[in-house]
Amino acid sequence: MITLEKASTPLKGQIFVPGDKSISHRSIMFGALAEGSSEITGFLDSADCQSTIECFRKMGIIIEHTQRPMNGVPIITVHGKGLRGLQAPTSSLYTGNSGTTTRLMTGILSAQDFESTISGDSSIEKRPMDRVITPLSQMGADIVSLRGNKCCPLHIKGNPGLHGITYRSPIASAQVKSSIILAGLYAEGDTVVHEPAMSRNHTETMLHAFGADIYNELDVNGAGTAILHPGVPLRGIKINVPGDISSAAYFIAAAILVPGSEVIIRNVGINKTRSGLIAVLQQMGADIELINVDNSMEPRADIVVRHSYLHGTKNGRFEIAGRRIPTLIDEIPIIAVIAATADFETVIKDAAELKVKESNRIDTVVDNLKAMGADIESTPDGMIIRGGKKLKGADIDSHMDHRIAMSFAIASLVAEGTTRILDDHCVGISYPSFFKDLQNLVHSN
Ligand code: S3P
Repeated sequence: MITLEKASTPLKGQIFVPGDKSISHRSIMFGALAEGSSEITGFLDSADCQSTIECFRKMGIIIEHTQRPMNGVPIITVHGKGLRGLQAPTSSLYTGNSGTTTRLMTGILSAQDFESTISGDSSIEKRPMDRVITPLSQMGADIVSLRGNKCCPLHIKGNPGLHGITYRSPIASAQVKSSIILAGLYAEGDTVVHEPAMSRNHTETMLHAFGADIYNELDVNGAGTAILHPGVPLRGIKINVPGDISSAAYFIAAAILVPGSEVIIRNVGINKTRSGLIAVLQQMGADIELINVDNSMEPRADIVVRHSYLHGTKNGRFEIAGRRIPTLIDEIPIIAVIAATADFETVIKDAAELKVKESNRIDTVVDNLKAMGADIESTPDGMIIRGGKKLKGADIDSHMDHRIAMSFAIASLVAEGTTRILDDHCVGISYPSFFKDLQNLVHSN
């Protein structure tokens, strides 16, 4: 448990947040399936990405940590063995808390010529896997949920003869899309995934950089399609992972909320399929500027944020819904914290997916914000936050969800009194040095 107090001085200075989690996972996976070595800098060294590394090591992939001799920059080298180079693991593949590892690897394992079992922690064991089992089975995969509850542990028989499909996904999910595409790399014929709104497209941009024949289409209504023509081998590449916008989100919020603050967050990924938070906050009236924009494979920028009075919209109500939701899905807990302190009502809709994240994030956000004195209620697909109440310190149950722990650590900066966060160590899933970095900024004056 960690004890936090209201910030007594503005937050000033610059910060580098750790590497993007989605891109880091994919760097290891795609590097393993490529021919030749891939060199990754900016890799996120956290529990979730470590789970991915350990799984691929168990399948015979050599993954080395070294440092660049000139400047000590950490480098991860993945010695890829090509699409058909994975070896049968001798024991169950343990994915810890990581939904991305579990779902993407299920796609890869479905196409192997060996059997495997995937298991994870108690949160993973509750998260739905039928969303990948259904389409992968249509491709010819043989996947069994060992407890018959459509969740992990999964037993995957492996079928080297999968066939491509055209799949209309009922949800906008990059994990589902990526799982199907990864199986599609091995399949006979094209694989096409339509989604009701475009989810993060790191799999498409990165596989393209590894040499795959893959692209996205966005239709006028915002629905997205990923199209893969298989048969092209992947080749190892160099990847420089940008900072994670989902981690930067906490410091963006802190700077907006604490009077007098001005913070620069350096080298943050601003891929359009991920940066809905910035657009929403700017529309609410936040003073956020992107400088030093670099449009590389995964675009990045420095983000300058100043304390802001948020005014919302003219009718006193701000709605976040529809195709915007996938672009900020992991940021909804911190958006709810910001909204609770603003002077208007925020309605979050079309976000039922929050119920099946690391915790039920509709409940964990609503319950904890209520404990802090906010006026908030849950709805079947989101929440309504009537801002303007003064927050007070409370005991926060993180439910072992890293994004809940970090969001409420930021809420504590503007709450009267003491806030205690239970199981604060769960931040190690995506951001092991979060509390140290936060304390440095809080004591920057
Ligand atoms: C992720 C996709 C999102 C996101 C998760 C990471 C990814 O999940 O919430 O934290 O790396 O593909 P869904 O695909 O289930 O929406």
